[in-house]
Amino acid sequence: MKILITGAAGFIGSHLVDALAARGDDLVLLDNLSHGRMDNLARHRQNPRIHFINGDLRNEEQVNQAIKDCSVVYHLGAQSDVVNAVQDLDTTFQTNVVGTYHILKAAREQQVQCLVFPSSREVYGEPHHLPVDEDQPLLTTNAYGASKISAEMYCRAFRKHYGLPVVILRMTNVYGTRDRDRVIPVWIKQARACRPLPVFGGQQVLDFIWIDTVIQALISAAQHPELEQPINIGSGTGTPILDLARRILELTNSTSELSLLPPRDTSVLRFVARVERMRDLLGIHPPKDPLEHLPDVLERWDE
Ligand SMILES: NC(=O)c1ccc[n+]([C@@H]2O[C@H](COP(=O)([O-])OP(=O)(O)OC[C@H]3O[C@@H](n4cnc5c(N)ncnc54)[C@H](O)[C@@H]3O)[C@@H](O)[C@H]2O)c1
Repeated sequence: MKILITGAAGFIGSHLVDALAARGDDLVLLDNLSHGRMDNLARHRQNPRIHFINGDLRNEEQVNQAIKDCSVVYHLGAQSDVVNAVQDLDTTFQTNVVGTYHILKAAREQQVQCLVFPSSREVYGEPHHLPVDEDQPLLTTNAYGASKISAEMYCRAFRKHYGLPVVILRMTNVYGTRDRDRVIPVWIKQARACRPLPVFGGQQVLDFIWIDTVIQALISAAQHPELEQPINIGSGTGTPILDLARRILELTNSTSELSLLPPRDTSVLRFVARVERMRDLLGIHPPKDPLEHLPDVLERWDE
């Protein structure tokens, strides 16, 4: 089986490459390296079953070339950062909406067995109540969330109208090694250097999910092309952001202080996913303590 992974040099993509390469699959990797790094794929350099294409989702021809003979697609390539997405609206729209449209057209032409699309909890906006189930209205207030809603709707239309088997996963805050610029790696870096931890607002409650659980969910989703409804991928447990700071300071034996800053206007204040669908349909059971793998991030910091 030949599999296309877009965004393969990024955080989640490169972990997925590790998992699928271990299974012995033939992989085509597409990434324009705008945010991903070849270092994340270094261990696969000599693997003859893995073919890397330095290409762009916005280029339809490159997408068509990459997908040739692939029967499964994990479409992870995206402008993935909310703050950058809001600052660079054109790139966000062209990559996340037009790029996904290119993938859908090519996947339909190729008659793939399954396309997995990672959406985000950002599609919901600020929830009315917690935990948030998948039937809640999509009320995002930022361009990243808007691009994910648009892409989801194209996925839905291609499934309904053309029968394209596409599964949508709405992921919460993923953490793990190789992530560089979200709250956990930024705070670990600061804590290790005993520099202040920037805290925007400090009232947030977030749903963190360990990278390996997300990889399991992606792989399981590809085995269930019949799943029509979007599925939340999260821990189902809320972590107050100040608890996260405390855990990081303890683990790093750091004397860093917290530097309280005004909240970002792009941030959702409280989010916890309802994860029954993930459990029942994908068979994924998150751990009781969503942060139980923080020591692993520290241990494998240089990965
Ligand atoms: N990490 C999270 O917490 C999280 C949560 C919800 C959803 N997601 C989604 O999961 C996917 C992967 O996220 P990630 O955290 O690995 O992000 P990432 O930024 O590490 O990976 C995205 C990859 O896409 C590549 N890319 C960007 N624009 C491209 C383009 N035009 N053409 C080709 N490649 C391009 C980047 O170089 C990068 O390697 C994204 O779709 C993201 O929106 C992530």
